[in-house]
Formats: sequence, structure tokens, C-alpha cells
Amino acid sequence: ADLTLIGAPTDVGASVLGASMGPDALRIAGIARALQALELNVQDLGNLNGPGNPQAAPNGGFRHLAEVTAWNQAVFAATLATLEAGRLPLLMGGDHCLAIGSISAAAHHCRARGRRLKVLWFDAHADANTPASSPSGNLHGMPVACLLGHGPAQLTALAGPGTAPALQARQITLIGVRSVDATEKRFVNQLGIEVYDMRCIDELGMRAVMQAALADVDESTHLHLSFDMDGLDPTIAPGVGTPVRGGPSYRETQLCMEMLADSGALGSVDIMELNPALDLRNQTAELAVDLLESLFGKSTLMRA
Ligand code: ARG
Ligand code: MN
Ligand code: MN
Ligand code: MN
Repeated sequence: ADLTLIGAPTDVGASVLGASMGPDALRIAGIARALQALELNVQDLGNLNGPGNPQAAPNGGFRHLAEVTAWNQAVFAATLATLEAGRLPLLMGGDHCLAIGSISAAAHHCRARGRRLKVLWFDAHADANTPASSPSGNLHGMPVACLLGHGPAQLTALAGPGTAPALQARQITLIGVRSVDATEKRFVNQLGIEVYDMRCIDELGMRAVMQAALADVDESTHLHLSFDMDGLDPTIAPGVGTPVRGGPSYRETQLCMEMLADSGALGSVDIMELNPALDLRNQTAELAVDLLESLFGKSTLMRA
């Protein structure tokens, strides 16, 4: 396959600074080399440009709405152009608000081609806040709500007027969740979003969870993985701005990646919330690259 790396160096959607350095930390950890070694054709588009982080207080329920919009427009355009060129976009964040742009582009692309988009959202958080429910005003806590049509028009309809919502609730599955705000919880239930939280993973195991999550994937499915590095247990992934204890282990997450690879349906990927300022000797970036190798088909032995 042909892969395009897209860097989005910003943390405008977060209140902890540092995710803006994520793309370069992934490059330093050898992301392109590792994927080329799997015989993928890898192109690095470099970094997108956008406004700086004003470090302002929330305004009307949102922090940095104008800046978040500008960054998402850039991500939307680069992702859509990559998909239209027949390549698989791998977005290197950046904070998780940018998944509004990448997933809106995937949705737009799928709609035009008659493909079914399915999003797998790997995260400690549900990221389904609205300004009414958000405790922080941070837009990286709101992308799932925005993609489902609940948010400001400039973010819910990135593909143009009349294109909201980008997704229906049945098109998204959350995995690894263990921190949901009180009002956000009610919203997730109301929308009927499929959630495999940590208790599900504990009780059923990652294999059964992934089988259930991928049960509706078929030949016409474009699978989008939105991977928040804080989904991982923070003992193995300390380089994140909003860690929550009790996440999936290294082995569980490898299995998750391997089963996604086996689905054969992967069409686009986000690697988000990597915060090198909080990391230890780039270990979280190296872990991300290691997991991406499995996602793109690396296995211990040759496969039949
Ligand atoms: N639920 C919290 C909030 O809305 C934390 C969200 C963290 N999101 C993330 N992508 N790391 O502020
Ligand atoms: Mn998160
Ligand atoms: Mn399902
Ligand atoms: Mn997230």
C-alpha cells in the first residue's frame, strides 16, 4: 500500500501544551523507516501550517475555536487530497480535536465512492463533550460529538454547508474508555454509541472485544482508526497530556493492532495526543511506531 504521513503540529485543542511536538517525535522514533521496512511506499508530506496557540481562556464554551477551525480545515484538505490520490493518510498529531478534520475527509471520500465508513476510536476518554457538558472548554474533548453533528457549524460541516453530520452513531466504536465526564456520559448513552470500556476489555478480553467491534466490517468498509496515545496504560505511555490509569497493556494493544491489520479494511489513521514534553526519552513515540508496525501488518513469523 501507499502511505502518506501528514504532520499537524498543534495543541490548540488542549490545555496542556506539548502535543504540537508529536509529529517530530514520531519522525525521530523512525516512523517512516519502520513502515518502509514493511514494504510500504511511504511519503512524508511534512507539517501543515496553522495559527499558534494563544493560550486563551474558553470563550462561549470553547477554547480557541477559531484556531481549531483553521487547523481542522488544513487537516481536512490534506487528508482528502491524500485519499483522492489513492493513498492511505496517517495523521500525526497534534491534539485529538484534529480528528474532526481527518474523519470528515474520510466521510466525504466514502460518500463520493459509495463506501461505508467505520471509525474505531481508541481512547481513555469518550471525547463526546459539547460546550454544555465540557468541564474544560477544550475541543480535544469534543471531536466525537462534533462528528455526530453536535457542535459549532464550522466544525460539524467541514466538507461544506449541508454536510453535517459526518457520521451516524452506528458508524463509530469506542475502545479503552475509562474517563467520561458526568453529563458526557448521558450524551454517549442517548446517542447509543457503541463503547467497549475497560471493564468490557477486562471481562471479555481484547480478542472478543475486537471481534465484536469489527463484526460489521465487509469488503465495502473503509476503516478509520483514531488512536489517542492516552488510550494506552500510562505506565507504558507516559508522554500524554491527560493520562488515566488502568488502560490496555502492551500485549492487549498489539493484539488490537494485529486484528485491525487482519481486517484488511484499514483506510486512514490518526496517531494523536503524543506529548514529547511529558515523555521519557521518547519512549511513547517509540511505542507508537512499534504499534503502527503491527497495524500495517508486521507479524512475528511469516503469515500463510
Ligand atoms: N473529558 C475531558 C475534557 O473534555 C478530557 C478530554 C481529553 N481528550 C483527549 N483527546 N485527550 O476536557
Ligand atoms: Mn484521550
Ligand atoms: Mn459493531
Ligand atoms: Mn482523545
